[in-house]
Amino acid sequence: MRKPFLCGNWKMNTNRAGAVALAAATAKTAGRIQAVEVGVCPPACYLEAVLAAAKGTALVVGGQNMHTDVGGAFTGEIAGPMLKDLGCTYVILGHSERRHVFGETDEFISKKVHAAFQFGLRPILCVGEKLEERQARETEAVVRRHVTRGFAGLSKEQAGQVVIAYEPVWAIGTGLTATPQQAQEVHAFIRAMLALLYDAALAQQVRIQYGGSVKPDNTRDLLAQPDIDGALVGGASLKADGFATIIAEGAKGKGL
Ligand code: PGA
Repeated sequence: MRKPFLCGNWKMNTNRAGAVALAAATAKTAGRIQAVEVGVCPPACYLEAVLAAAKGTALVVGGQNMHTDVGGAFTGEIAGPMLKDLGCTYVILGHSERRHVFGETDEFISKKVHAAFQFGLRPILCVGEKLEERQARETEAVVRRHVTRGFAGLSKEQAGQVVIAYEPVWAIGTGLTATPQQAQEVHAFIRAMLALLYDAALAQQVRIQYGGSVKPDNTRDLLAQPDIDGALVGGASLKADGFATIIAEGAKGKGL
């Protein structure tokens, strides 16, 4: 069975003291609910403090982004080996804010996915359509493009290590959540694509998180869907109590 994975994406929020307190509280929750994997992706400047708070606990930590290169003249960027050196397990790649606010292309994101594997990090690859794309019935075409290009050139072994986060852009930070049925449809579509790109066993292995206004009161129904294996949680992961409820509700949704 795929172990559910609930991960907080803190984006550009909190401060050092807040980050440490939130990490410590979330680590306690992770220790209490071991049937699910629990992670947080803090701002890069607080990674070290968060990793110290997570040390020796079940909480895993990831970066929110990284550059494709090993190092060099890229002012303001962070390289994979730096995230690895700090002790990160995961790195979020291709988040819609990176795609649509910072203009990252599928090709650039694909290079990052390969770089993540080169440096021993597991990518959380974000995919998802904008509102106008959903309205134009282009959801499958957009998701197909994000997944195909995001997985381009990956071996089966690498593909099995990728976590996909389906995050419809219209649901991110808007309070509008995809219904469990809407999300399940796209998750099943992604899994069917993975079966075509690789094989059925690989498709069954890959974890697909849902993201976009996940809250304590909608998590259980989302995770009760057969192809929803977790959540990437933005705003609601910034409050320790709320995120603890989300983790507990996620476990319940999976019958754990
Ligand atoms: P949200 O963000 O939960 O605040 O909608 C999710 C994300 O962008 O990963």
